[in-house]
Amino acid sequence: MESIINRIIQLLRIKNPLAAKKLLNNLPYFDNRHNEFTQYYLGNYIRYLEHSGLTIDFGVNCYVKLLNDMMWQRAQFIESGRYCNDSFISVDRAVYDNKSVMEYHMHGLLLAQFLWPDQYQRFTFFYDHLRNYRPVKNYLEIGAGHGLYISAARELLTDAEQFDLVDVSATSLNLSKALLENKSIFFHHRDIFDFAPNYQYDFITIGEVIEHLEEPMKMLNRIMALLKDDGTVYLTTPVNAPMIDHIYLFSTIDEIRTLIGKSGFVIKEESTAISENIDYTKALELKIPIMYAAFIKKAIKQT
Ligand SMILES: C[S@@+](CC[C@H](N)C(=O)[O-])C[C@H]1O[C@@H](n2cnc3c(N)ncnc32)[C@H](O)[C@@H]1O
Repeated sequence: MESIINRIIQLLRIKNPLAAKKLLNNLPYFDNRHNEFTQYYLGNYIRYLEHSGLTIDFGVNCYVKLLNDMMWQRAQFIESGRYCNDSFISVDRAVYDNKSVMEYHMHGLLLAQFLWPDQYQRFTFFYDHLRNYRPVKNYLEIGAGHGLYISAARELLTDAEQFDLVDVSATSLNLSKALLENKSIFFHHRDIFDFAPNYQYDFITIGEVIEHLEEPMKMLNRIMALLKDDGTVYLTTPVNAPMIDHIYLFSTIDEIRTLIGKSGFVIKEESTAISENIDYTKALELKIPIMYAAFIKKAIKQT
């Protein structure tokens, strides 16, 4: 049977030849589990598409739209040195609450997890290290988007009793609900600042969300309140990565580390990946996106 990656490359050759070439060039940078992960997670995604009367062709169209948006956003960013958006309310209206935009954006982002080496590294870092932070009884994901991370957590944390997913976007929530069918997850269509459970969590995942806020520190404060004292957070956020829904610009990795420290957390393990094959200094100079991911804990427990 033809691999999903090969099928995607074939479709990209027609729809966006440059993206097909880039993906082919990137293939050597994936590890030897990449095909297995892609077949499993994107295989599940393709089954969902087929159930909805669609095919992977739809997913690749969404991915191409995401790439086009990124190109435009990047041109603006390089010219102005800023992200285009400066308010959560306007992003909520234009993206999270706009079904057609949010749909292609989330489908495109799900494919990107397996097509971009930096995003794939963000996923495998989570996958390989999550179990080091057991026991986990209560698990929360904030802004799950396409639901890939909570899907993996549901499989890895076999002793966990409660999985909660909170997302402000109905489109995201519906996509993750459909992809996570029968996985005993509680879905909450809520802004995390309005979510008030009567218990705290052992583990919270928040991937690619704090850059969507005007003040990321407020999100870290919210997480501090939702997390048990000995709990762990998996946090990821990018540097210099303009997107249609990004507001807060981190210009260096040290800015993220400083924010984590100032919010009362300590970094236990971290991972970074540059989205192009260049070094960190060059990436900063050219404002090329850099992925940052970390497992963090409350500082109070470190004494
Ligand atoms: C870029 S997606 C991240 C998807 C996924 N977590 C990942 O790591 O790839 C951001 C998600 O965060 C959600 N989001 C943004 N602000 C939020 C908030 N204040 N409360 C809950 N969800 C939020 C958006 O609706 C969207 O689904």
